Amino acid sequence: MTAFPSLLLVGAGRMGGALLAGWREQGLSRAFIVDPSSAAQSLAGTDVSVLEDVALLPSDFSPEAVILAVKPQMAAAVLPGYARFANTAVFISIMAGKTVQGVAEMLGGTPAVVRAMPNTPAAMRQGITVAFAGSGVSGRQQDLSERLLSAVGKVAWVQQEPMLDAVTAISGGGPAYVFLLTELLEQAGLDQGLPSELAKIMARQIVIGSAALLAASSETPEALRIAVTSPGGTTAEALKLLRADDALPKIFKAAIQAATERSRELSV
Ligand SMILES: NC(=O)c1ccc[n+]([C@@H]2O[C@H](COP(=O)([O-])OP(=O)(O)OC[C@H]3O[C@@H](n4cnc5c(N)ncnc54)[C@H](OP(=O)(O)O)[C@@H]3O)[C@@H](O)[C@H]2O)c1
Repeated sequence: MTAFPSLLLVGAGRMGGALLAGWREQGLSRAFIVDPSSAAQSLAGTDVSVLEDVALLPSDFSPEAVILAVKPQMAAAVLPGYARFANTAVFISIMAGKTVQGVAEMLGGTPAVVRAMPNTPAAMRQGITVAFAGSGVSGRQQDLSERLLSAVGKVAWVQQEPMLDAVTAISGGGPAYVFLLTELLEQAGLDQGLPSELAKIMARQIVIGSAALLAASSETPEALRIAVTSPGGTTAEALKLLRADDALPKIFKAAIQAATERSRELSV
């Protein structure tokens, strides 16, 4: 695999750091990180220089891609500092709720902007990132973006930017719903009088093991569910309650709808 071209990562926290780790596995030719935190300094190496401020970048540095991984609330203060790359680089923004137009306006000019929504399993290279390419993005820039984002998991593209609101609600927040289920399973064990250590380890291993089974199997989640649901048995009894009056599907649909609307409200 050929090394990535010159890159500039703006913000190397949880998500930026996960991306960097994925790129490093494939090789970096010349990369800079701008991040003022002391933790970011530990990411420096022969392949990566870490700077506290954009003003410290070498004047001859012209990245092919600038990855924007700062908190969305920092965007207005941070992005204008990168305006000088607006005509040459593709900007890949993972900032939640920042639209292509919003990012372009903060940079000035007519930059090529990809808006992407990853999720936290990126830290295990098991994420899913859904992306939208703004109108100024060339085929080559989109290919590079896909390569960069796929270093931490699967990548899919949408053709309409508003779809990213539902993506944010489902896949950005998705790990939280799975972790909530893990918490609920642990609590259920405690409620049934199981020792706390057993309740904890069972809840974790159910989720870990089920995910591994899903990953290895060619069956649908529905088929895997049916496989553990004997008619008239214990699981069937639990599912009967969970699905009575469509309770679980209804509340889940309403929750995702609320999160999607919240994403729309926050989008600028
Ligand atoms: N975490 C998720 O589940 C998730 C999912 C999808 C998208 N995202 C998006 O990913 C982005 C990063 O999130 P995160 O969870 O990785 O946040 P994070 O861990 O706080 O990382 C942000 C990093 O940016 C640094 N920073 C602050 N000011 C800066 C500046 N002026 N220039 C460059 N870097 C600066 C921060 O340093 P300090 O710590 O010193 O402030 C921190 O190291 C956000 O926009 C978020 O919306 C996150």
